[in-house]
Formats: sequence, C-alpha cells, structure tokens
Amino acid sequence: MGSWNRRRFLTAAAVAGAGGLALALRPSDRGANHARYYMRMSKALDEAGLARPTLVIDQRRLLANADVLHRRLRGRYHYRVVAKSLPSLPLVEAVMQRTNTLRLMVFHQPFLNLVAEELPRTVVLLGKPMPVAAAAAFYDLHVARDFDPGRQLQWLIDSGARLRQYRELAGQRQIPMRINLEIDVGLHRGGLRNVDELAEVLEVIEHDPLLTFAGFMGYEPHVVKIPGIIGGPPRAFERAQAVYWSFVNAAEKKLGRSVDNLTLNAAGSPTYQLYDGDEPANELSAGSALVKPTDFDLDTLADHQPAAFIATPVIKALDTTEVPGLEPLAGVMAWLNPNRRKAFFIYGGYWKAIPESPAGLSVNPIYGHSTNQEMLNGSASIDLAPDDWVFLRPTQSEHVFLQFGDIAVYDGTQITTHWPIFT
Ligand SMILES: Cc1ncc(COP(=O)(O)O)c(C=O)c1O
Repeated sequence: MGSWNRRRFLTAAAVAGAGGLALALRPSDRGANHARYYMRMSKALDEAGLARPTLVIDQRRLLANADVLHRRLRGRYHYRVVAKSLPSLPLVEAVMQRTNTLRLMVFHQPFLNLVAEELPRTVVLLGKPMPVAAAAAFYDLHVARDFDPGRQLQWLIDSGARLRQYRELAGQRQIPMRINLEIDVGLHRGGLRNVDELAEVLEVIEHDPLLTFAGFMGYEPHVVKIPGIIGGPPRAFERAQAVYWSFVNAAEKKLGRSVDNLTLNAAGSPTYQLYDGDEPANELSAGSALVKPTDFDLDTLADHQPAAFIATPVIKALDTTEVPGLEPLAGVMAWLNPNRRKAFFIYGGYWKAIPESPAGLSVNPIYGHSTNQEMLNGSASIDLAPDDWVFLRPTQSEHVFLQFGDIAVYDGTQITTHWPIFT
C-alpha cells in the first residue's frame, strides 16, 4: 500500500471509527405524541376558548394529593397549609376544605391582610419573621372585625432584637400579640440556635403582659438532601428532632409548665412523610406537595401526583431544526440526535419549568431560550401542528404560578372555573 493509500485508509478507518462511536452514543428517539391524559386536557382548553400560556390545575389530582396527605398524617398531627406555595385564595381554600384544617402559614403581609378579610376563621402562623414595619402595616390595614389577630395570629420571631421591636409595637398600640419562636434545627436559615438564647427571649415574653408565648417553628427541608456518606436523611432527621426536643424541654423547664398545647410546627413537603408520631411537633406544614412541581419529585413524595401544568400553544412547527449560521449542519445534527429533528416555537417560554408532553421535547442549547417564542426540539415521532398544545411542569409553584393570570381549573373533562392568583 503506497503512503497516499495508507493515509486514505487510516483516514477512512478514523472516520468509520468516529461514525461508529457517534452511532453508539446516538440517543434513541424519545419522542411520542400526547398520551390520552394530555389529549383530553388539550380538548378542554380548546373548548374553553383558551389560546395563550395558561397555568392549569388538575383538580382531581389536587384533591387526591390532599387526601394522601391527610391519610399520611393519620390524625397524629394537625395540618397547616403553606399559602406561599399555593398562591391563590380559592386554591388555598380548596385544600383547607378538603383536609379539614383552619391552619394557614403565611409569608407576605398583603396576603395576610387578604386572609384576615376573606377567610376570617383561619388561624395563621407567619412562615418568616416580618420586619416590624410590615407587622405595623398589617394592623394599619386590618379592619376585618371577624378576624382577631390577638387570638388567631402568631408572629414569628427569630431573635431577641426582633422580639424587642415587636414588644415596642405591642406597647405603642396596646395590642396583645402571640409570639412563635423560629428555631434552627439544622437548616441554618436563622432562628434561635441554642437554649441560652431561648431563656432570654422567654424571659422578655413572660414579663410583658401583651405578649404570649405561642410555640415553636422548626423547618428541616435540608434533611432529604443530606448525602449517605454523612448519615443521609435518617441521621439528619434524627438530629433535627433532637434539637427540637432540646428547645421543648428547655422551654418547659423555664416556664414550669407543659408546652404540648402550644403550636409546635415543623416540616414541609419534602419531609412531612418522615414523621411517625414520636416527634415533638404537633402540626406539620406543606404546600408544594399538593401540586407537586418537579423539584418535589422525591422518594418521600412518591404517592403524590403532578397536578399543575403550564399549557401553551404551538405557534410554528418546522420539520427541520436550523440554527442561524449552522444551516448546512442541520441534517448532521438531526442524525446525531433524532430528538433535535423538528423545531416547535411555543407561545412564551423560559419559565422555571420542564417540558412534559409531548414526550421528548427539550430546549436547544445552541439556539437558547426566549420568553417570547421559545424553540423546543423534538423527534419525527411528534406530530404537533400550530395551535396544538404543549404542556410543561413548573419546577416550583410559588413564583411560577404568578406568571399566567387566573389559574384554569380542570376537572378531567373541562375547564370548570378560573381561580384568581394572588397579586
Ligand atoms: C417555614 C416553612 N415551613 C414549611 C415550608 C414548606 O413549604 P412546601 O411544602 O411548599 O415545601 C416552607 C417553605 O418554604 C417554609 O419556609
């Protein structure tokens, strides 16, 4: 074989090798048209005359999730609805009704005023410590006589300094205030860290006639993220409970009475199923688990179903994906990854969300994102046409739910109503 021939042979062998490797690494076709569930939802959206990005809640799944949660608590714990993760008054109400609870955790002063006005029978625990000026704003705006903040509202206090600010506010206005103490059970997002701090704070509360100690709040979502090498979730959960017990015991010692009857709040969606009745808490909070965004696809929530979707119309459906400047490579790119063959431009985009149906859609990493008309790629197995619907799952609820206007409520057959979001 002459040198030219040998070179040609080696080049051909290299190309064949690379081709073989590419073939071996080539992803399979993951595309498929909408399954029946999404076909029915598409029909309902069309019949409702919707034609823009819409947040849809599957009401049957929402209520099924509420039933799972209620069953899981087995009557051992009260349930507190986390309003921030379900930011719509009718949505919060639907969950409260189904789980038969009046307990709400609220994170935002305007929402607190709305709840006091619209749901005056609720009992509210703040989920984060509010600047004292926000607390003052709540009282300034509060007119609803049926909601008595002195009885139905617990402010969350994370430090001695904040407690003194609240004591001053209570004194100035001569209003009784119930004080719940945030404790750090391992998340390290603030709150009281040790029982010495607790003793000082309890001293202030006990000596003020307007302040009442209402309980503790210890939140531990970090537990499910702890790697096995350092003990994993079981060890972290145990540690969190040990810290919680130390505060409960110290409070009982200091006060000389039981705190069992107070609000001992814990958990969130990722951890609520880890509670088995032996923990110091007497009530558990959760919100996201009721709609299950993708961040909550966790082993501890395996029996909850996704109940919230972004539905958006296809604007354009192209048989070939072309990236500006790389047009000659379109065929090669589609061969290398059959899931990049077609291009679908959707109405809106770049939400905190993951394409869900049809199967196998993804954002093109070279083309990038758009909030106006986002390109999604899919394989030749997907037959989407303009005006068809694409469904995505939000990664979280609290921010994403607020981006679409009223929530479309789907009963499995039709869009039955619209729930205003909290703005
Ligand atoms: C204090 C507190 N409790 C509970 C939760 C749980 O909310 P979710 O169930 O939506 O995760 C949160 C969420 O941020 C929180 O801050």
